[in-house]
Amino acid sequence: MLDIKITKTETPKEKPQGPLGFGKIFTDHMFVMDYTEGKGWHDARIVPFANFSFSPASMVFHYGQEMFEGLKAYRGADGKSYLFRPDMNAKRTNATNERLCIPHLPEEDFVQAVSAIVKMDEDWIPTEEGTSLYIRPFIIATDAFLGVAPSKTYKFIIILSPSGAYYASGLAPVGIWIEDDFVRAVRGGVGYTKTGGNYASSLAAQVKAHDAGYSQVLWLDGVERKYIEEVGAMNIFFKINGTVVTPMLNGSILPGITRDSVLHLCKSWGIPTEERKISVDELIEAQKSGALEEVFGTGTAAVISPVGKLRYKDDVMTIGDGGIGTLSQKLYDTVTGIQTGKLEDNFGWRLSVE
Ligand code: PLP
Ligand code: COI
Repeated sequence: MLDIKITKTETPKEKPQGPLGFGKIFTDHMFVMDYTEGKGWHDARIVPFANFSFSPASMVFHYGQEMFEGLKAYRGADGKSYLFRPDMNAKRTNATNERLCIPHLPEEDFVQAVSAIVKMDEDWIPTEEGTSLYIRPFIIATDAFLGVAPSKTYKFIIILSPSGAYYASGLAPVGIWIEDDFVRAVRGGVGYTKTGGNYASSLAAQVKAHDAGYSQVLWLDGVERKYIEEVGAMNIFFKINGTVVTPMLNGSILPGITRDSVLHLCKSWGIPTEERKISVDELIEAQKSGALEEVFGTGTAAVISPVGKLRYKDDVMTIGDGGIGTLSQKLYDTVTGIQTGKLEDNFGWRLSVE
């Protein structure tokens, strides 16, 4: 159990009015905890949200030794605050930490820290349909040292952001650009981790996709540029001839928690699912033959995000009638229903914040 010291802000901010957007507004407090080699994690605290002061030599600025997570808190109709599978974020934190030589963070401490900061700023959880409190835990390397080596000191920080839909279009289907030049990750690299560098290296393709009128990039494998991997901020699913197909976890894609939840839900509804390699050629064929019924992305920020259009080189594929597919809508309603306490939680995924 962490002993969390609390310092309350003396200048609480006005709560936002009107559309929230994503990740632009921050609450009154943040959680901070330090790590020092030989001492471990120490000085867990909740303090007013404020700027930090760091040495310009801090290692995170130079070699990117950092990790982050993303989860959400929801306000139930019963007035309680809920988290969705935070234990999975805690586990993924340590999978990332191990790969990046960041010290292990006990899972129960991660969940306690997230719960404590959410409880503190509970009245910032928005209640309008489609909104939630986005939670961003992250760890940065803080040694002032320009040598390339694991840092000996770190900061674990959690900030909170009341947010609406990740895409400006809300649940309306997005257009996705299948990138045939740049790649995101290779097996043996850090593709399965949640670290900033993965996102920095995705920007050039994302800019290209945006300029062409697409919302995000769908990555192909880094070796043959032939197999579907994932989207910039979500995993990807295809409904082909009644079967729900998603790329298998291969070390280069993020093991999404929403992805895992969607697979569980589909199985519980008796829908056949497959986790396997899917080539872009198979996809084009399926679309041409009419077998490709639905495409949707899954992610904490994106929830279930229907894809209406996919571009690959000279092919522009319209999915179904370009609208929201029946399964995408049912998954969206079910996942958000469980998250917000409207639906029964048969899987034990919801954690009420005490
Ligand atoms: N893939 C990438 C690259 C992501 O950034 C995210 C978002 O977290 C996901 C997939 C979806 O993961 P999750 O469902 O755990 O949010
Ligand atoms: C999330 O869905 O939590 C993410 O981390 C995506 C993010 C890159 C916006």
